[in-house]
Amino acid sequence: MTDQYAVIGHPIGHTKSPLIHGLFAQETAQDITYAAIEGPPEPAGAFAETVRAFIAAGGRGLNITAPFKLQAFAMADERSERAALAGAVNAMKFENGRIIAENFDGVGLVRDIEVNLNRPMAGKRVLVLGAGGAVRGALLSFIAARPAELVVVNRDVAKAEALVAQVATSRPLIACGYRDLDAMEPFDLVVNATSASLGGHLPPVSPGVFSPAGGAYELAYGKGLTPFLRLAREAGVQGIADGVGMLVEQAAEAFEWWRGVRPQTRAVIDRLTVPLD
Ligand code: ATR
Repeated sequence: MTDQYAVIGHPIGHTKSPLIHGLFAQETAQDITYAAIEGPPEPAGAFAETVRAFIAAGGRGLNITAPFKLQAFAMADERSERAALAGAVNAMKFENGRIIAENFDGVGLVRDIEVNLNRPMAGKRVLVLGAGGAVRGALLSFIAARPAELVVVNRDVAKAEALVAQVATSRPLIACGYRDLDAMEPFDLVVNATSASLGGHLPPVSPGVFSPAGGAYELAYGKGLTPFLRLAREAGVQGIADGVGMLVEQAAEAFEWWRGVRPQTRAVIDRLTVPLD
């Protein structure tokens, strides 16, 4: 029987995951279906019921998107270390009656930056804006990339400090507020992982954080030149990118985890890329 997969979220209408996984399946000749499920935001417990119904109908794996990543974490039987730090799950697989949970957002992000955009982070100074769920999900992957220094800046500094304190690392990892950035040298890479762009806002960074020879990366995708990317471009940064590659790379990680075969991502990224301006 054809193995069934799906993405579950609310709202789910805009999702690109069925297209991405459909292209992966075609390319790797895997016999799967991949659907989009509109998840019930309430009552409490309805999400877990939907997941269990999917498993009972023969489902093999799910991607989880907003607002269910925390509920998915809560119902899992086994969680990877990165899912545990994030407290959030973006992929599940169902094996021997158990729900195994992962979070591929961070690896997808780092792979897009290092492989697709050709900006290895080892030895570089990296600035991450935000300390919410997106950063929690990505922090271990950033550290694994061995930057010379990793600075996490947030309006609510205590949130950044609490997040950094949870990570055991010998590498330089600093939490700070936006004003503290004025005293720091420009960064080789600046990643906007706040939700500011979703409302068309600019996090309170000055152009001085960017190096023209460095990179600026926006986690949001398909929004064109966001205020953050515009600021980076005006500061002379050549290497600017949005998060479309991260979306495709985290999907590729999940696909490989489920199917044991790694799909090519370049053509899929090209197909989904919307010009920044
Ligand atoms: P997500 O899951 O997208 O990370 P979240 O957990 O709600 O969402 O976190 C949102 C992040 O974006 C937070 O770091 C938030 O900063 P505060 O914790 O200081 O509120 C950040 N954020 C949202 N709007 C912002 C803005 N206009 N400028 C700077 N940071 C912003």
